[in-house]
Amino acid sequence: MEFAEVVRRRRMVRRYSPEAVPDEVLRRIVETARRGPSAGFTQGQSFVIVTDPDLRWEVAKLAGEGSYVARGFDPWVSEAPALVVVCTSEQDYRDRYGAPDKLGPDGKLNWPVPFWFVDAGCSMMLLLLAAVDEGLAAGFLALQSYNGLRTLLGIPEDVQPIGIVTIGKPAPDRRSGSLERGRRPAAEVIHHDRWEA
Ligand SMILES: Cc1cc2nc3c(=O)[nH]c(=O)nc-3n(C[C@H](O)[C@H](O)[C@H](O)COP(=O)(O)O)c2cc1C
Repeated sequence: MEFAEVVRRRRMVRRYSPEAVPDEVLRRIVETARRGPSAGFTQGQSFVIVTDPDLRWEVAKLAGEGSYVARGFDPWVSEAPALVVVCTSEQDYRDRYGAPDKLGPDGKLNWPVPFWFVDAGCSMMLLLLAAVDEGLAAGFLALQSYNGLRTLLGIPEDVQPIGIVTIGKPAPDRRSGSLERGRRPAAEVIHHDRWEA
């Protein structure tokens, strides 16, 4: 599929048909996410693929799926045949940025924004696009707290989940109310040479 078409087709899909996603397809999708950029090539991102039905059900409970369903949405997490928990490690960046080629002149670790979240966002986007490229659909949701998910999936303390990507064959879903906001006009968000230009 052409890149522009992949980007155009991508949207957060919140309902899936139950067919399993073959393991090799999931593997390709996650391998694509591993191609993302990372500050200092730290590669602090990791991925937990969850396909076991009981575990998916538990993850859905932790994700507050009940409250989505109560608001008229579909059970998009428990019914998605595959979930990928996207994780990032601040410690990996602290280790990498402590190396001689990265330490600031004052000998301090420094970054203007938390690179571990920047890079996790890049990985997440690649997962979404790779799923579309495979003829599937994907969605992303954040949790209020990741403590339960950590315990359920055995994610180490120093690894921070940033959210869950749901993957599967799309089924007709209820769109998010947020979309009523519409896309902001290009002139508001694209600046050329100067902010006010
Ligand atoms: C960081 C982030 C967190 C999000 N969290 C949720 C979420 O918890 N639940 C949800 O339904 N959608 C979530 N979304 C999806 C957004 O609502 C969605 O991207 C936005 O409405 C635009 O729709 P589209 O992605 O389908 O174009 C999240 C998106 C991002 C980037």
